[in-house]
Amino acid sequence: MKIIVADSGGVEHALDAVEGWRVMEIIRAHGFGLEAECGGSCVCGTCQVHVDPAWAARLHEPREDELERLDENFAEPDERLSCQLIFTEELDGLRLVLPENVKAPEPA
Ligand code: FES
Repeated sequence: MKIIVADSGGVEHALDAVEGWRVMEIIRAHGFGLEAECGGSCVCGTCQVHVDPAWAARLHEPREDELERLDENFAEPDERLSCQLIFTEELDGLRLVLPENVKAPEPA
């Protein structure tokens, strides 16, 4: 199973994804510089990602605390906190766009 993330240069990366992991953890495990300062506690808002419009309605609705963080961080309407998205097989192929400040890993 995979998630597809586009980096700030528009390059798409297909990342192996593990059921039950937070999407934030999957992105970081593949070497992307997504900050995630609070470790997934829905406190910092530094794990924001843009969700492809075709996938937005397939995600669960944000809880109140996620909505508050998004609001505090002036999130755009297509943004979610990747630490609040738990990967399941229904999300196989999920497409995201990373914020500009998130560095992609150096090619091996
Ligand atoms: S990692 Fe802090 S809000 Fe997601």
